[in-house]
Amino acid sequence: MRRAKSLLTLIGALGMVAALQATAQTDKAQTDKQTGKKVKDGKWETADGFPTFNIAADGTVDWYTYSGFRRYHSECHVCHGPDGEGSTYAPALVESAKRLNYPEFLQIVASGRQVVGAAQQNVMPALGDNPNVMCYIDDIYVYLKARAEGGLPRGRPPKRADKPEAADKYEKACFGAK
Ligand code: HEC
Repeated sequence: MRRAKSLLTLIGALGMVAALQATAQTDKAQTDKQTGKKVKDGKWETADGFPTFNIAADGTVDWYTYSGFRRYHSECHVCHGPDGEGSTYAPALVESAKRLNYPEFLQIVASGRQVVGAAQQNVMPALGDNPNVMCYIDDIYVYLKARAEGGLPRGRPPKRADKPEAADKYEKACFGAK
């Protein structure tokens, strides 16, 4: 009888530890065992710490990928064409995203680029001072990666995760700081 009771107490205590761990984990990044990707507050990153997309089995995209779709189409589409497919003026970023890593991408967008001596003088403007671009640069990057590597089809992603509170906070801080 006594033994049964202490066993129950023990089980109860273990349950509490498990519950506490579960609570603690919501503050920490969770790792996807299959891909090595990590997610914190709805934002995904690669095993080596760069922003990345997530597409669930039912096609639901993470918030940042969805946001990137919108920001791309308001800031980059005019030159780079719809859905990152390119235009006669500027290259297809869906192709560029296969080749460029995050630091390279950031560098080009912030500082701009012009091919010296090219027959056509098409210029990538420096957008580093534009908060409508730079406050969403991770979003645009992960959207293009999702198109380049994640099989995200053209057009507006039909299903998306809710906007995380962290995204709201970041947005306010980012615009406030400009
Ligand atoms: C005014 C037109 C224009 C706008 C707006 C523009 N770009 Fe560009 N971008 C270009 C041109 C032209 C090039 C090619 C420049 C070159 O050949 O060096 C380019 C090149 C790039 C490259 C390098 C591609 C590669 O394959 O190396 C990246 C990355 C890029 N743009 C990202 C962006 C993003 C992201 C946005 C929106 C936030 C954007 N651009 C908005 C015109 C534009």
